[in-house]
Amino acid sequence: MSGPGQRMSVVDAVQTSDSYIRGAGREFLVAIYTALRSLKLYPIENAQVQKSLDDLAGTAQRILDREQEIEVRVTGEFLFVNSTRLRLDLDNYASFSHVLGMLRGAGAGLVRAESGADRREWTSFLSLLMAAAAHSAGGTHLLELQGRLREAGVTHIVVEPPLESEMTEEEQERQKEQAKRTYQRSVAVTKEVINSVRMGRSANVKKVKRAVQAIVDQVLADETSLMGLSTLRDYDDYTFTHSVNVCIFSIALGKKLGLTKLQLYDLGMAALFHDVGKARVPLEVLNKEGSLSDEDWRIMQAHPWLGVLTLFGLRGYGEVPYRSMITAYEHHMKTDLTGYPKSLRPRPMSIFSRIIAVADGFDAATSRRVYKTNPLQPDSVLHEMLNNRRRGLDPVVVKSFINLLGIYPLGTMVILDTYELALVVSANADVTEVHRPMVRIISDPGGSITSPGFLANLADKDATGTALRSIIKVTDPDRYGVRVSDYFV
Ligand SMILES: [Fe+2]
Ligand SMILES: [Fe+2]
Repeated sequence: MSGPGQRMSVVDAVQTSDSYIRGAGREFLVAIYTALRSLKLYPIENAQVQKSLDDLAGTAQRILDREQEIEVRVTGEFLFVNSTRLRLDLDNYASFSHVLGMLRGAGAGLVRAESGADRREWTSFLSLLMAAAAHSAGGTHLLELQGRLREAGVTHIVVEPPLESEMTEEEQERQKEQAKRTYQRSVAVTKEVINSVRMGRSANVKKVKRAVQAIVDQVLADETSLMGLSTLRDYDDYTFTHSVNVCIFSIALGKKLGLTKLQLYDLGMAALFHDVGKARVPLEVLNKEGSLSDEDWRIMQAHPWLGVLTLFGLRGYGEVPYRSMITAYEHHMKTDLTGYPKSLRPRPMSIFSRIIAVADGFDAATSRRVYKTNPLQPDSVLHEMLNNRRRGLDPVVVKSFINLLGIYPLGTMVILDTYELALVVSANADVTEVHRPMVRIISDPGGSITSPGFLANLADKDATGTALRSIIKVTDPDRYGVRVSDYFV
């Protein structure tokens, strides 16, 4: 029997958690401050340092046991712990502002710890944070700190940059540059592997693994800049860019679905390798212009199991997660098993395959390929993916994907009621404004194309509460001679 007094409403639950975090969050920040101070004053063996680290690890563990994660976010002059703003008062002023300054000095806007963050990780984290904050004069190097943490085996504590709106122009530029490098390197590595397989040579799986890890790290730090690069869909190297795009979308989607970082690494490997079997499909079939013959289709449809064979044959295939083989095999099966290869027995598709099938479907449908010259606009692809059950996609995964991309996915070209043309840059962070994404305006009101144009938030309103700009309709960039990727690279 549960009476009304015993049940907890969602509101109650949130409030209880709020007041818990207000106390525990404060305790946690004071513990960080104390540890930072003593690490600065004494050598690490010192008893006081050791005690402060014990305290910190203990305090963190108690919060993790209850809340599963600790997320400290810096927004302006405020500190939030698990979305609860901590009140600043005279007692905690010194400790809060010290921690705030330290995070800012290192270029971090957020620190997130999850279960598994132990005393050793906290110790490495604090030492590296101190070093990063001390050497930051002349620019912040968050990426360096992220790299050091990785090297030190700190896997349960991550630092991320401040939200985009708080990044300086220069920081945004650096993120973009980094994303470009990660993207190009991944394409190069994929090309190397596929070509090696084609030539019957051995391929370096370790390199692929490193490329995937870089993508995961980048997506966790800032997903928009890498996803922007996926607009490079009309690139010559379709096979390679397609694999990298599917990898980026799958990782971003996996993150949204709550996978851990280690799961994201495996998912990323599986996504990058999903079409590896195409390396065994003759090029004249793969690149054929015009429609494919029945025989061509038969060969194309062999790529899933050819993929499994290829993965087994890769040098050091022990490094290829077993799940990559399953997804290579399953990604065209469809959830109702009407796809290929045919399954004799009913089987549930693995969650990795469901995620990759959605990312694959989206990238393929929005790409320009030899045998399909008119790609659909991204928003209609999403619409179709959701409504056409014959595609056999998992509707829950598709919905998360739409949540991720917004109803106007990035790269969509739109006409505004000001008669300006614009490209969608990202979904609006405010979920109540799904129809009003962030855009880059790329023309004057007369329709003359400008480059690089300027950013605008379609949710911006004038004094009367009327939106400054609204989308009238989606249009095809080709009609205006616009290469979408030029604005993202
Ligand atoms: Fe495929
Ligand atoms: Fe594919």
